[in-house]
Amino acid sequence: MSDVRFPPGFVWGTATAAYQIEGASQDDGAGPSIWDRFSHTPGLMTNGDTGDIACDHYHRYPEDIAIMRDLGMQAYRFSISWSRVLPEGTGRVNQRGLDFYRRLVDTLREAGIRPMATLYHWDLPAALDDRGGWLNRDVAEWFAEYASVAYKALDDTVEWWATLNEPWVVTDGGYLHGALAPGHRNLFEAPIATHNLLRAHGRAVQVYRSEGKHQVGLVVNLEPKYPFSQSEEDLAANRRADAYMNRQYLDPAFKGAYPDEMKEMFGAAWPDFPDADFDLIKQPLDFVGINYYLRAVTKADPSIPIERATRVRQPGAIYTETGWEVYPPALTAVLLWFKERYGPTPIYITENGAAFYDPPTAIDGTVNDPLRIYYLREHILSVHRAIEQGADVRGYFVWSLLDNLEWSHGYTKRFGIVHVDFATLKRTLKESAKFYREIARTNGGAVG
Ligand code: BGC
Repeated sequence: MSDVRFPPGFVWGTATAAYQIEGASQDDGAGPSIWDRFSHTPGLMTNGDTGDIACDHYHRYPEDIAIMRDLGMQAYRFSISWSRVLPEGTGRVNQRGLDFYRRLVDTLREAGIRPMATLYHWDLPAALDDRGGWLNRDVAEWFAEYASVAYKALDDTVEWWATLNEPWVVTDGGYLHGALAPGHRNLFEAPIATHNLLRAHGRAVQVYRSEGKHQVGLVVNLEPKYPFSQSEEDLAANRRADAYMNRQYLDPAFKGAYPDEMKEMFGAAWPDFPDADFDLIKQPLDFVGINYYLRAVTKADPSIPIERATRVRQPGAIYTETGWEVYPPALTAVLLWFKERYGPTPIYITENGAAFYDPPTAIDGTVNDPLRIYYLREHILSVHRAIEQGADVRGYFVWSLLDNLEWSHGYTKRFGIVHVDFATLKRTLKESAKFYREIARTNGGAVG
């Protein structure tokens, strides 16, 4: 297996997001985001954790970039906090907030690391939530204004821009099930949030075409669905689950229409959207970012709202600390599926990784994480298999560089290849980081 080599120029990197690592979310003139509010609402976060300090990356970014350099990373995917840059979401620009990202990308460049910036990784300015947030159609213009500020300040250095990270999670977690900010549970809001997210994405791409000189794309999370049985009920449930999670965003962005199943699932809550919106949403993209973590085996279950489908646990499979089945072949399958359904747009794996229990570091200062190494190895091999079969995958980003705030799970789920002691903020390379360093050094060769 030692002959596994990725195409020349394949990019190896790691990924993070602002609220999960930066801390200092109110420093230097930043405004609050919906995650500041959510995490400070009693009862919503495991252990009452907040992102107030997180990994303190806002102050320790030079150390984190030095770690990336030591790991031989070629690229770094981070997100920009909208309310750090525009404290009220629109209007007044907070120069000190922009300056942070300027220092970040310049330091990355000096370390030979190519920046990929995500504009929206779930932290809407609280001031915009007060104006309806993703439910207000004006959000597309607010987002375009913010995108333009970010492009003008950083596009000389940022090579790839992702408009949204995982719009499915924004809607499902934030507007339908309430587990994520802003914590709504409303069947009628979800389709509206979805649609406005896509309109905002379209506007940000339009703005980039007139102002940017690099690449712009959209990041989605895909979770391939496998029917539990070949019964008509399970096959239909599987189609619904697939439409809801995998096609709901990609179909409008690439084909200009929602899947038919959306109306079937949401019934009266799914409105008819104006035709003209789809011209805005369907913008040519330079790349798509795919975040892949797990698959789902799907069984019909009328008691579950919307999808009327449930996931079936697989006996004998390995599950991560977040309860996700480890199933690497689905990554090959989903990359080939993307190409077949949506055509030749280049793909980056913008997130892939796993939370596992990490044994204590105390004895010799090492963190031995064999399950994470296994996870990464098998998924990197799956990407390679997809490339051999014709998928145009250009790069791979591990989620995540650092252990960080896993949203409402607080600090209880560790996804990092670098361990963070949240009492001292000390960083320690896990064995998986050393494994990944060899992967990057050998362009995949070390995977065997
Ligand atoms: C998100 C990350 C998150 C990770 C693990 C993705 O859904 O983009 O922010 O930490 O998965 O749950």
